[in-house]
Order: sequence, then structure tokens, then C-alpha cells
Amino acid sequence: MSAVTTQDLTKDFLTGFWRPVPKRALDCLTLEVPTGGVFGLLGPNGAGKSTTLKLLMGLLWPTRGTARILGLPPGDTAARQRLGFLPENPTFYDHLTAEELLSYFAGLFGYRGEARRRRVEYVLDLVGLAADRRRPLRQYSKGMVQRVGLAQALVNDPELVVLDEPMSGLDPIGRRDVRAMIAALGAEGRTVLFSSHILTDAEELCERVAIIARGRLVAEGRVADLASRHVTGWRLTVSGGDDEVLARVVPGGTVERLADGRAVVNLHGETRPEPVIAALAGAGLRLESVIPRRESLEDVFVRALNGDAGDDAAARAGRGEVAAR
Ligand SMILES: Nc1ncnc2c1ncn2[C@@H]1O[C@H](COP(=O)(O)OP(=O)(O)OP(=O)(O)O)[C@@H](O)[C@H]1O
Ligand SMILES: [Mg+2]
Repeated sequence: MSAVTTQDLTKDFLTGFWRPVPKRALDCLTLEVPTGGVFGLLGPNGAGKSTTLKLLMGLLWPTRGTARILGLPPGDTAARQRLGFLPENPTFYDHLTAEELLSYFAGLFGYRGEARRRRVEYVLDLVGLAADRRRPLRQYSKGMVQRVGLAQALVNDPELVVLDEPMSGLDPIGRRDVRAMIAALGAEGRTVLFSSHILTDAEELCERVAIIARGRLVAEGRVADLASRHVTGWRLTVSGGDDEVLARVVPGGTVERLADGRAVVNLHGETRPEPVIAALAGAGLRLESVIPRRESLEDVFVRALNGDAGDDAAARAGRGEVAAR
């Protein structure tokens, strides 16, 4: 069974005070998130990621379409018992300490006495807040509040964890910690569904991703399949030699100068680097690095968005309808 499925999930918001008009935030999203592992919901700002996650959590009602979460309708109490949710930019009662807040949430999930104390201690440790557990949340930095949010999402030992932009507001070390935490949750056999617009995070963590833009699904699949692993070019870094020499020995590539004076030679397509390297060495240049270029998730993302922009305009013109953006 899939952890999450949606069928034609659609959400219109009414905007405008005097004459409210519907604005489509999510347009016929059909998606399946398999059980176990880490799934990334990717898209630029305003794509409909938070809307999707809120619909799944039962915090919004769909205009049309259906969703199932752990086989149950969104908002179902039995489903909630088994899942954790981190909203985007969480805020909590800030006069409480992290320990008090988490103890409150643990209590809501039926933890009592010693089990409750142990559970709170465990999640505080997990998110790296053990030392600050007795400080009121109003003294916390943004990154610390984000960690409390994560602890809150994990307090009930959920089998499905839904995280809206879990890395936002964190510094590089914080991001790395949270990435490691998400990877560990996935490796334990839990399902993690998280949203992000940071593609490298997704590339590192996810087996599968869905990319949405303007409320529509534009790509979905295994990261390995979406971003082709074959080499699409080479990047050679060299020092020494002037532009004239480079232009002569590198007829088939583009050359850029770095601020420190070194040059980067980009070879495209089928061009092999070996003859170019030999020619560069023959002209007295020093080779510093050779890096193969592979299509990244970012390339897929840009391609998907560009493709969708065209389709979107055509679809709008064809149907004479007002699209989300
Ligand atoms: N309550 C609301 N009322 C009206 N419009 C809304 C509401 N919530 C979201 N929208 C609109 O729906 C669209 C999708 O918003 P959503 O918050 O789902 O995007 P997102 O992908 O989460 O973006 P971000 O990366 O900025 O968090 C946007 O155009 C947004 O303006
Ligand atoms: Mg959002």
C-alpha cells in the first residue's frame, strides 16, 4: 500500500474582498508516494507545495479530487496517530520551554509518566536541543524553533513524517544535521514526504521526487531516472597560457576565465577530453582538474519548468480559462 495517494486533487482559493474570484493553487494533482524511504515534493515559490501538504493533513478542504494518507482520508484520527507534521515556519506557545511543549504533545498522543519523560528526552536529543530544554521558546533562534518543530513531528514515533521545508531557516551545519536525520528516518523504514525548493537536498536524500509548478505536476519519478547519469560534457580547469593559445587548442569548446586567472574549458556533447588535454599540455598549459558533467536534478527542474510554461500558456489559450499564475 502507498503511504500517500492523491487523485485529481485541486484547490481554489477565493481572493479579492469585494468580488472574490477563485485562484487555482493546485490543479488536478495525481500522485503516489510509496511506503518507506524519502520522497521530495519540489517546486519554486508559490508552486502549491504547502497547499498540497495541508490538504493531505486535513488542514484545508480540496475543491475537487481525493487524497488518502496511510489508506485513510486526510484528517482521520487514526491516521493522525501514525503521522507527524512539520508546518512551514512553525510557531509555538513561546512562554513554554521546549521540554514542556514536547511533553504536552507527547501527552496528546497518550504517553504517560516515565514513558512520556523518556520520549521527550529522546526527541530533544535527536534534534540537538537537550542542552536548551529548560529555556522558554521565546529565547530560541529561528533554527532552534525549527528543531523544536521537528521534535514535535517525531514525538509520536510516526510511520509517516510530512515536513514542509524542513531545512528552511537553518545554517549549513543545521541543514546537514536535518538531512542526516531525514535520511536516518527513511533508512529505518519510515516514509518521509518533504517539500523543498533546494534541489541538492532532494538529490542527496530522495529516491523519488515530484516536481510541481503553478499547481501542476510537471515531472515525477526516480531521481536516478529523471537526472540521466550519462556524461553530457567535461569541465577542464587549466592555468597558464593566454586566450589566444586557448582559442587555438580548444576549437570545440567554450572558455571562461576565473577571477584568479585560471581558465575553465567546457567541452560539450560527445567531445572526448583526452585530445584536448594533450593539446593543452603541448601548448605549455597546466591541467588542474577534469570534471565530467552529468545532468543534475537542477537541469531536470529547469527543463520541466520551461516545458510547463509553454504547455501552460497553450492550455490557457485553448481553454480560455484563468490559470493559477
Ligand atoms: N490562504 C490562501 N489564500 C489565497 N491564496 C493562497 C492561500 N494559500 C496559498 N495561496 C496561493 O496558492 C499558491 C500556492 O501556494 P503555496 O503556499 O502552496 O506554495 P508553495 O509551493 O508552498 O510556495 P513556497 O515555496 O513559497 O512555500 C500561491 O499562488 C499562493 O499565493
Ligand atoms: Mg510553502
